[in-house]
Order: sequence, then C-alpha cells, then structure tokens
Amino acid sequence: MNFQLTEEHKFVQETARQFAQNELKPGVIERDNKMEYPTEQVKRMAELGFLGMMVSPEYGGGGMDSLSYVLAMEEISKVDNSCSVIMSVNNSLVCWGLETFGNEEQKQKYLTKLATGEWIGAFCLSEPEAGSDATMQRTTAIDMGDHYLLNGTKNWITNGGTSRVHLVMAQTDADKGHRGINCFIVETDWDGVVIGAKEDKLGIRSSDTHTIMYNDVKVPKANRIGEDGFGFKFAMKTLSGGRIGIAAQALGIAAGSYELALGYAQEREAFGKPIAKHQAVAFKLADMATQVEAARLLVYRSAFLKDKHLNYDMASSMAKVFASEAAMSISTEAVQVHGGYGFVKEYHVERLMRDAKITQIYEGTSEIQRIVISRGVLNGDMYVPIFAD
Ligand code: CAA
Repeated sequence: MNFQLTEEHKFVQETARQFAQNELKPGVIERDNKMEYPTEQVKRMAELGFLGMMVSPEYGGGGMDSLSYVLAMEEISKVDNSCSVIMSVNNSLVCWGLETFGNEEQKQKYLTKLATGEWIGAFCLSEPEAGSDATMQRTTAIDMGDHYLLNGTKNWITNGGTSRVHLVMAQTDADKGHRGINCFIVETDWDGVVIGAKEDKLGIRSSDTHTIMYNDVKVPKANRIGEDGFGFKFAMKTLSGGRIGIAAQALGIAAGSYELALGYAQEREAFGKPIAKHQAVAFKLADMATQVEAARLLVYRSAFLKDKHLNYDMASSMAKVFASEAAMSISTEAVQVHGGYGFVKEYHVERLMRDAKITQIYEGTSEIQRIVISRGVLNGDMYVPIFAD
C-alpha cells in the first residue's frame, strides 16, 4: 500500500488550493448572497484546466487521472461549492460520458469545446416524477426517420442556464422499459429548448439550477450516444463516476469546515486559554479529524479503483454516503465551535453547513447509495485493496 501522493498530484492539489484561497474566497460570500453565477471564476477554472481534467489531450483535456480530479475538487470545495458543482458536472457527467461512450464525430464536435471549458455541459436525467427511480422517464424522443422529436421536462439541472450542451435521457420505446431509454446530445440554442427560472436554493446558491423544457426539439440521429437503448446504462455508468466527484466535494466541505474550526479554536480564548485546549472542544476536533481522514481514504480509494479500471460502483457510493454524512456533521460542529460567530456569514462555516446538505441529496440520494452498496455487498464485491501499486 502506498499513501503518498506523486509530485504531479501535489502540484494539482497546490494549484487548486491557491486558486480557491486566493481567487474564490474573496467574493464567495457575496456571490452566495446574491445567487450570482461565478462567470469570471468559471473562466479561470477553464484556463487552469479544471473543466476537462480527465479528458485526453487529443480532445483538449488535461489527460489526468481521477485522483488528480478529486484532489482539485477537494480544495475548491473547501471554499466554493457552487464552482465545484459546476466543475463536477462538466468533468464527470458530461466530458467523461462523452469521451467514454461518444463516437469520434461527437467527440470532435462537442468534447473538444467542453473539455476546454469553451462550452459548459449539463446532464439531464431527473424529472419532476423520476428522480431516484430513473427508469420512469416521461421525456420522450420519437423516431421520425431522419431525426428524433424530443418532448419533456427535466428538473434540478445543474448548469441548466449556462450550458451550451445537454446530455438528455429520454424514452424512445416505452414497451422496452429501461432498455428503451436513449441519451441525446442537445444544443441549447435549438428551437424548442426552454430554460425555466433559476432555483433559489439553501446551498450552492450561485450555481445555476433550472427546470428545462423540451418542446418538439428536433434532434439529429447523429446525436444519439451509443447503440439504440443504451441510455439507461449510459446514465448509470456515468453517475457511478459522478459520485466520486460529489464525494470529493463532500470531503472538501468536511475538511474545509474542520480547518476553519481548528484555526478558530486555536485563536479564540475563553477561561484563560485557547478553546482548543478545553476538552469539550478538543474532543470535537479529534472526532472531526478522524472523520475527515476516513472520508478521504474512501474517496481516494474510489478514484484509485476507477484509475485502475476496477469496479468502482460500490466504492463510489460508499465514498459518497460516508463523505456526505461527514460533511453534514463536521460543518454543523464547526458552527458550534465558532459559537455565535459561526452563525454569521463572515466566518464561512454557516455556508459550508448549508452546502453540505445537497451532497446527501444530489447524484442519487443517500438512500439510493445504500441500494447500490447493498447490491454490491450481496454480489460479493466487498473488499479491494486500497492502494496496491
Ligand atoms: N453500470 C452499468 N449498468 C447498470 C448499473 C451500473 N452502475 N446500474 C444498473 N445498471 C443496469 C442493470 O444491469 C440493468 O440492466 P439489465 O436489465 O440489462 O440487466 C439496468 O441497468 C437496470 O438496473 P436495475 O434493475 O438495477 O435498476 P433499478 O430501477 O433497480 O435502479 C438505481 C437502480 C441504482 C436505483 C438507479 O435507478 C439509480 O441510480 N437511481 C438514481 C439516479 C440518480 O442518481 N439521479 C440523479 C441524477 S443527477 C441529475 O439529473 C441532475 C444534475 O444536474 C446532475
């Protein structure tokens, strides 16, 4: 087992840390208050190569491994989870899905723009009545001979208002159930694509989450991904990797909250000494540190498995469940350690606590992750060495 990061990994981690602390932190409270989309910050993420990290350089990406991506997500999520969710969807759900399952023409036309961040993408699976139960797609795509006609509504779409490309799951043959679902590449300036209002959310407030309506949108046949009926498997495989990114976001929230609590507890004095030296606070810090380390191991392990082309379905769900629960509990405790200061925006922990909640909900709720884990358990997928070279 090897727990050391390579020099390349350390470089990615340090670059993301500097960017987050120096460029994201200064305006993050204001953007969150105003629900202001981080336009300039997303441009900088594109310049730094954070929007297509794992895509091959042939298509304009960084050619990096999943662990590099996780390290960058963790650092950015310590500060700005609106930026990290934009990054996560573009990298894991859109670019990875297209590179892995798209054909050469689709990659040349779309991936080259998405990997560089020139365009941003969205992943459109959830519907008003099909969130966790993703096989129940009501959106339809009727085969019209030379094109498909797309109709339906998608909910909770991250990057909904700013993306140029949507990957849309739709039912093409209801009689075939999930085997009748396909995924289509849809350009948002096509006739019939209607972007609903931006959601006013508890957390990740400056990311743009929208309902999207597709009204008789003509989708060329060339824009279907994979063989006919591959859409549900496309979504499942893509989400499995997406959960690693969200687990990394949760890890960043947990680690960021812990670091803020530790710093504050060492400075703030009560009863003649720093509060970190009172056991009531020291034990909280000990528990936070332990949970952060445990979450980190699960998240890095799931990235490692993906990089080694081993099965990571169960590992990514385990990482997401554990890291999101750690994010929720550590950020709540971090507010507690800060006392009254934790309850005001200036000290950053209340925002992390609000952001933590979404990590238990999106890309498959905590309940869905437990379905995936329990299936893996019954399937005998349990235990793969963590960091074997
Ligand atoms: N990889 C490959 N194939 C998979 C798979 C995976 N990880 N998981 C399931 N499948 C396949 C199965 O093998 C099966 O195929 P066959 O019938 O050919 O054997 C098929 O998919 C159906 O599988 P299940 O019977 O297991 O399906 P299910 O209905 O029981 O659902 C589920 C399983 C895990 C609950 C799944 O529905 C799920 O993950 N739901 C959550 C969806 C989700 O995460 N939604 C949020 C999307 S995020 C979004 O849209 C917004 C945004 O901005 C990101």
